[in-house]
Amino acid sequence: MSTGCDAGAGRFQLDGQDVAFEPGDTLMAAAQRAGHDLPHLCWHPTLGQSGACRLCIVNVDGRLSAACTTRAAAGQVVLNRTPELDAKRRLLLQMLFVEGNHFCPSCEKSGDCLLQARAYQMGMTGPQYEEFSPDRAVDASHPTMWLDFNRCILCKLCVRASHEIDHKDVFAIGGHGINTQLLVNSGSGRLVDSAFDAGDFAASVCPVGAILPKRRGFATPIGTRRFDLEPFADPVDGHD
Ligand code: SF4
Ligand code: FES
Repeated sequence: MSTGCDAGAGRFQLDGQDVAFEPGDTLMAAAQRAGHDLPHLCWHPTLGQSGACRLCIVNVDGRLSAACTTRAAAGQVVLNRTPELDAKRRLLLQMLFVEGNHFCPSCEKSGDCLLQARAYQMGMTGPQYEEFSPDRAVDASHPTMWLDFNRCILCKLCVRASHEIDHKDVFAIGGHGINTQLLVNSGSGRLVDSAFDAGDFAASVCPVGAILPKRRGFATPIGTRRFDLEPFADPVDGHD
């Protein structure tokens, strides 16, 4: 039973295991620090909360919550990897895959891509819905980095990184509904005219292949990349 109090340190239960938390911790922060994987796309340990992707949905004392924005409290009973929650995550991933252009075999991020790795983790084997096939112009204006808006999953990691770490506010999210997209803060709207630099934290934080360095293709062979070597745990229920 949750006390509802998050003023101090304490412990909560995560899929039956005891997890310690510090004052101010979210469920996500405490769980990840303790070595538990709570599925996520838009959370990063050094950046502020976003709650953009909802992949971190968990059951907290019977209520569904986003683990990355929910404060840990003593005695909470949290369910993470259940067939029902993984089915919701799979649905979210299915929608993300059809809303953008995520053709993994042609993407340099394949094997290092968090979206791809989470899809495998949740047992997603292919698209279930009709693809939107967006056709947004690629921004190749920058000398060393390029930006493919079609692959952006609107996680806001680059937005937060540029604001909180780089102190540049190069990126923003604009538009509504299906027309929501990443924006570049420059007079022309192009990356080359912004304060963006390849050494920025925002240049390395994208979980998918939307922000990538130019002229660096397959330096690490497919099959030996991050998630090729260390995939996430298997799905807890069946496949699509
Ligand atoms: Fe997220 Fe990458 Fe899109 Fe930025 S460009 S919002 S980091 S997916
Ligand atoms: Fe919690 Fe994205 S990780 S909403």
